[in-house]
Amino acid sequence: MAESTQMVGSIIPYHVGIIMDGNGRWAKAQGKGRLHGHQQGAEVAREVVRWAKELGIKQISLYAFSTENWARPSLEVRGLMSLLALMLPRSLPDMQQNGVRFRVLGDIKPLPGRARRAVEKACAETASNSTIELILCLNYGGQQEILASVKEAAQWLLKQADQHKALALLTTDKLRSMMWRADTAPLDLLIRTGGEKRISNFHLWDAAYAELYFTDVLWPVFCKADLQRAIDEYGRRERRFGLTSEQLNE
Ligand code: FPP
Repeated sequence: MAESTQMVGSIIPYHVGIIMDGNGRWAKAQGKGRLHGHQQGAEVAREVVRWAKELGIKQISLYAFSTENWARPSLEVRGLMSLLALMLPRSLPDMQQNGVRFRVLGDIKPLPGRARRAVEKACAETASNSTIELILCLNYGGQQEILASVKEAAQWLLKQADQHKALALLTTDKLRSMMWRADTAPLDLLIRTGGEKRISNFHLWDAAYAELYFTDVLWPVFCKADLQRAIDEYGRRERRFGLTSEQLNE
């Protein structure tokens, strides 16, 4: 028997992460340059936050620029940074109206001044909003994030009088508390558009028990029904966190 959208869609993930892939291919198919794809992708990024809010999602992470993306052609990198500097101030009224708290995950120090200032302004001006958190992953890499926390843990360890005893206290929870975004929830659902099936250094630690959802839809044409399909699929999954089905049903 087919399940109705209403039935399966009733389980809403708390934290959804999206790898927004396919901008370049979409633009090429339109006979346009890659930046055109990113512009259209940025519009969809703005929309997806509103859809997520309407569905009751509380945190949404968007992978906008990875630590590896600096190696793309410089025109594309500059274009993405300009887009960020342009789009963020324009999106602020929307974010205020929808109660969006804007946050950033990643090291924004190397970003060009205009883009960095736009990010800082959006973080500051939306800090008291609480309907949904938009976590924009910028100059973000999961391995880099884990490495930074390991370095912090080592610093902490060096300051302890009894280092052997302290080492035993270094649990996964403690290490996570030293990560860049210690106060966000672990990822429940990871969506990747554009047909590739990989995680690409996104949320490595926090995707440990995320449900993975891959779609061939290219990001610039991703729509609310596509998000709903991912949520419905999530609702059909059995999240076992290492337990057995029988244990969960007890
Ligand atoms: C991957 O598609 C997409 C990116 C590397 C950038 C994602 C950025 C946006 C959606 C715009 C919003 C972000 C900012 C910074 C304002 P791709 O270019 O790898 O696509 P392809 O695989 O088809 O070439």
